[in-house]
Amino acid sequence: MPLYIKENGMSHKRRGTHSIWKGRWTFILAATGSAVGLGNIWKFPYITGEYGGSAFVLAYLLCILIIGIPVMMSEIMLGRDGRMSPIKTMQTLTHKYSSPRIFAAMGWIGAVSGFLILSFYSVVAGWALVYIGKMASGMFVSADATFAGEALGVLHASPVTQLIAHTVFMIMTGVVVALGVHKGLERSIRFLMPTLFIMLIALFGYSLTTPGFEQSWNYLFGFTLEKINSEALIAALGHAFFTLSIGMGAIMAYGAYLPDKAHIGKTVLIAATLDTVIALMAGVVIFSVVFSYGLAPTAGPGLLFESLPIAFGSLPGGVIIGTAFFVLVAIASWTSAISMAEPAVAWAVDKGYSRIVATSVVCLVAWTLGIGTVLSFNEWADTKFFGLTVFENIDFITANILMPLGGLMLAVFVGWFMSKEAVAKQMRIRSERVFITWRFILRYLSPLAIFAVFIYGLTN
Ligand code: PHE
Repeated sequence: MPLYIKENGMSHKRRGTHSIWKGRWTFILAATGSAVGLGNIWKFPYITGEYGGSAFVLAYLLCILIIGIPVMMSEIMLGRDGRMSPIKTMQTLTHKYSSPRIFAAMGWIGAVSGFLILSFYSVVAGWALVYIGKMASGMFVSADATFAGEALGVLHASPVTQLIAHTVFMIMTGVVVALGVHKGLERSIRFLMPTLFIMLIALFGYSLTTPGFEQSWNYLFGFTLEKINSEALIAALGHAFFTLSIGMGAIMAYGAYLPDKAHIGKTVLIAATLDTVIALMAGVVIFSVVFSYGLAPTAGPGLLFESLPIAFGSLPGGVIIGTAFFVLVAIASWTSAISMAEPAVAWAVDKGYSRIVATSVVCLVAWTLGIGTVLSFNEWADTKFFGLTVFENIDFITANILMPLGGLMLAVFVGWFMSKEAVAKQMRIRSERVFITWRFILRYLSPLAIFAVFIYGLTN
């Protein structure tokens, strides 16, 4: 199952100019590379802590199942159907399936979300870059919770260090997006995913030996429904979109290069399962450390950086393992960031701008916006809009509003405006029953669930 991609990157050109990504696992790896990132290792554990554990986890799993997976399938399908940048694809497809022009807005919403997400994502990925150095220095050997907290505090208090790291990460992202070095990207994804997975399994093994393991397990999986509230529901919904990279065009841009014969359903099931398993494993490991060393589960965005260094510091060979771990986190973030920039860059390329110019502008705008996130952790920590810092606002607007809105539009478009025959031809789901179930979920359950969570959140 070869995947054809134009050499200079994910441009709007039809496939066939060059076959760069090959092999039947390539698209799965690319989709997983986009999906697995800070969302799994950094964001999932910390928001789970903020919303009190298992009830949030249950809501998140349900959202992945009844909204995330069906919408991800739709988004990839539309990408393949249109075979252009997400904005152009949605413009073309609204025409092709004679649907209201409003659906074309989905492409725009996605490109804007991409800028916004990339802006804070790059800052947090920058923290991971800084932690590669911190781990390698050996400073965390036998560290306790106080020490780890202080080390993070030093980073958060320094706008300059964060800005430098943010800049480095943005340049790393821009270079790959501009040059479209897919061979390099493919190779790194091929190597990264298994390594990250093995490392997480090893860490999981370690967490089994910690005194906090049982508490961690119960905290995440001892489902007690009464703890769920409207805010947690919205966060779970938003996180399902964020972690699968859906509702903003990233996965649609990748779908544009999927061969006609490829099975979308299988691909999505594998990518979504890997994504979920990685998040849950990261959660178990992090909360085992949290409960073993008396950290606060509600520590917020610093949770990953406060907890894991303590674990590495207590392990033989922890300096090397810890350094390698943050290298992997940085690479996983990198393969996600690349896909975030893609909708906006591909659109500019559609418009006739060169890929380098398009990428430079997108990265520069996202970089500038990112300064707001850097300052949210120091100078502007008390500057709040609607009770949230700049970082929290951007995160809330993208994950909890724009991406679910994009997903709602996708579900309604595919469910109600594309004919059953057109969808069936694209999806090639062999079993009639599976196809009917999937389409039913997409037509009724997914839009209603998104809608209900929105309304519930607004009224509570
Ligand atoms: N899914 C990525 C993660 O979990 C984040 C992402 C969001 C990537 C949107 C692309 C688009 O880290």
